[in-house]
Amino acid sequence: MTAARPLVLVVVGARPNFMKAGPVLGQLRARAAVDTLLLHTGQHYDEQMSALFFRDLGLPQPEVNLGVGSGSHARQTAEVMVRFESYLEGGARRPACVVVVGDVNSTLACALVAAKAEIPLAHVEAGLRSFDRSMPEELNRICTDQLAAACYVTEEAGMENLRREGQAAERRLLVGNTMIDTLLQQRARAAACGAERRRELGVAGRSYAVCTLHRPSNVDAPATLAGVLDALARVAERLPLLLPLHPRTRARIESFGLASRLHAASGLRISGPLGYLDFLGLLSTAALVLTDSGGIQEEATVLKVPCVTLRENTERPVTLQMGGNVLAGADPGRIVAAAERMLALESGAIGTPPLWDGRAAERIAADLERRVAARAPDGRGGAP
Ligand code: UD1
Repeated sequence: MTAARPLVLVVVGARPNFMKAGPVLGQLRARAAVDTLLLHTGQHYDEQMSALFFRDLGLPQPEVNLGVGSGSHARQTAEVMVRFESYLEGGARRPACVVVVGDVNSTLACALVAAKAEIPLAHVEAGLRSFDRSMPEELNRICTDQLAAACYVTEEAGMENLRREGQAAERRLLVGNTMIDTLLQQRARAAACGAERRRELGVAGRSYAVCTLHRPSNVDAPATLAGVLDALARVAERLPLLLPLHPRTRARIESFGLASRLHAASGLRISGPLGYLDFLGLLSTAALVLTDSGGIQEEATVLKVPCVTLRENTERPVTLQMGGNVLAGADPGRIVAAAERMLALESGAIGTPPLWDGRAAERIAADLERRVAARAPDGRGGAP
């Protein structure tokens, strides 16, 4: 009788997790040294925020969906914890390792449950720090990294942050960026989708800007949101600006009575959230992107599309160092000036960070297998 292979459980919860986890799951399945199980917490549940991404990315259906949904931070985090713990205790096969990605509430919730169940934890996209503890994601990142036995890091600054926080050398590994693995895999399909969307929108390549906006710090206070929207309307006087709205942002615009301002701005093209391929396709031929997302700063860097980040800080400083990203906060004057400056940037001036070569998940899978093989199949015993 052959010994059972150890089980690696991969957690996803929210939109930005899917493209980061996909390549890791894909590599683990292709190499077949371990069994895998994909668990979705259900933090994001809408067709546009979740199912569409699974289709675009060709991800397998999750074997488990905890169906948690939305709620306050405490409620959402607690609900994921309760349901994940019940799942692990309900007779399911014990994983030898739990893999969490990114920095959303589901990441931290599952990290805590796994660590308390003494299941070794791996964190993909570890070590990033904005040094802004008013960001929920910063708290999620710090706590998750403290619990992780293996921290897979996208950029050099992340390695330094972990070292400073006392994370042992054997627990941190610079591997590159799995979200960029996905981008490079999907680039051709995205280009076809982008061409179709451009035709529908009547815009030509490099003649429009794209914007995403959803951070509580930008959208939850009426005066801040009004200022950012005014800045976007001014940028849209210069070139068409596509604004796919996150459900949270749409709800705030409506409840603050700001919708009429948006409709008055003729260059703004507003839509619902876009799928992965449509967005990547439109981003890759944009003249400029304005965003408060973390991942889009990285995607823009690799695509050599100048980026204006609508925040005062970034946990991804390599994007600033590569010359393609600037911080503009939420001040309308600063945003418009930064957009002007970045529109004049030569795209050849933007560099690509080390190891963002499409092979990060391969490095992670090889390291994970080595760690898991050093332990008993039930995950207990030995140092991970
Ligand atoms: C979450 C992440 C954030 C990430 C973002 C990407 C945390 C703390 N935040 O923020 O880091 O950048 O995802 O989208 O985990 N909603 C829907 N449909 C959905 C999901 C949410 O309509 O499928 C609406 C609900 O009104 C919900 C609100 O969006 O209350 C916020 O969703 P939530 O998951 O709490 O956080 P995000 O703002 O999406």
